[in-house]
Amino acid sequence: PRIIFSGIQPTGVPHLGNYLGALRAWVKLQDEGLDDDKRFFSIVDLHAITVPQDPHTLLRRKNETYASLLAIGLDPNKSLIFMQSANPAHSELMWLLSCHASMGYLGRMTQWKSKAGVADDADPLESAPNKPALKLGLFSYPVLQAADVLLYNATHVPVGEDQAQHLEFTRELAQSFNHIYARPDADPTEVEAFRGFNIPRTILSPAKRVMSLQDPTKKMSKSDPDERSRILITDTREQIQAKIKAALTDSTPGISYDRELRPGVSNLLDIMYYMDQSKYESPMAIARDFTNVSMRALKEGVATAVADHLEPIRERYNEQIARSQEDVDTERWNSGRIVGAQSDRNIQRVKQAMGLRPVG
Ligand code: TYM
Repeated sequence: PRIIFSGIQPTGVPHLGNYLGALRAWVKLQDEGLDDDKRFFSIVDLHAITVPQDPHTLLRRKNETYASLLAIGLDPNKSLIFMQSANPAHSELMWLLSCHASMGYLGRMTQWKSKAGVADDADPLESAPNKPALKLGLFSYPVLQAADVLLYNATHVPVGEDQAQHLEFTRELAQSFNHIYARPDADPTEVEAFRGFNIPRTILSPAKRVMSLQDPTKKMSKSDPDERSRILITDTREQIQAKIKAALTDSTPGISYDRELRPGVSNLLDIMYYMDQSKYESPMAIARDFTNVSMRALKEGVATAVADHLEPIRERYNEQIARSQEDVDTERWNSGRIVGAQSDRNIQRVKQAMGLRPVG
């Protein structure tokens, strides 16, 4: 059976990059999954606090992210949708893994280097410009991510491309941990034996890297100060039209698809294609259809495709966010309890393998 795990930071309502790169695949795995699949989708609040957070804002954004996940079609009766901090085993396993995680490897993570302001070719541990202000949690972020995945023995992790490096790190950490502690041939009667973590596979969606509308050489991101760089999945038709109209393209006449030479136009064509893959064969096919139209007409087409697709999501989001807090809390409390029970066996086995817990 497949064990599917993925996570999203509680940054509030997700953007089109989150949606096309990861979240839509979660819903698909849920609705087209096999009966014995297990699905864990986590709102990773412990990862969120690796950068400064205002507590009230964080709570609100957790609610918004949760409502968004239900709005796109995740169903708490079919998937475990839970807050990472509801299961303390994430933090516990992180510590156990930390004692095996390589500082050198962590220092090479692109996300760390960009957040710490380390130049690409500089020494990642020595050359951070503002070393005393850098926090340990930010550096060890990928170890917590590895703990998330390994805690439930996940086999499949659907994410966008920017998470591929963290998952490669997860696999290597799992392998070296298994090498030291796993007893794959333990007697079958030894139910408590640690037989090794599953080595999880990265599942990339075809739209694995959606670009910023304002700078198509950068990925669409929640941290970009320019709100016009991204479309939120709850944006209204008017907001979507305005953002796409303002999207940076180029002055080459006509429409054509070329990610290198025409990144802005190609990003729009990609977005349009992935909004409704049944309409066109490929982004190139859309470009052929639109060859002789104006950029303005193309943008109108893209905006319509996006707005039509997101409209029902926005409606469901409004219903979700209006639910009573009590109702939502009960639902979440339930899934938190279930995931705790799911990970318990695994963490006990790991602790026993490490000599932290007596056998039997
Ligand atoms: P986060 O919250 O940044 O993003 C959630 C998901 O959205 C994808 N994504 C994109 N995909 C395509 N184009 C984009 N422009 C784009 N921007 C974001 C991300 O790849 C991700 O799949 N560290 C993770 C959360 C996490 C996690 C995990 C993921 C914590 N533990 C364990 C998988 C397994 C993060 O910050 O995602």
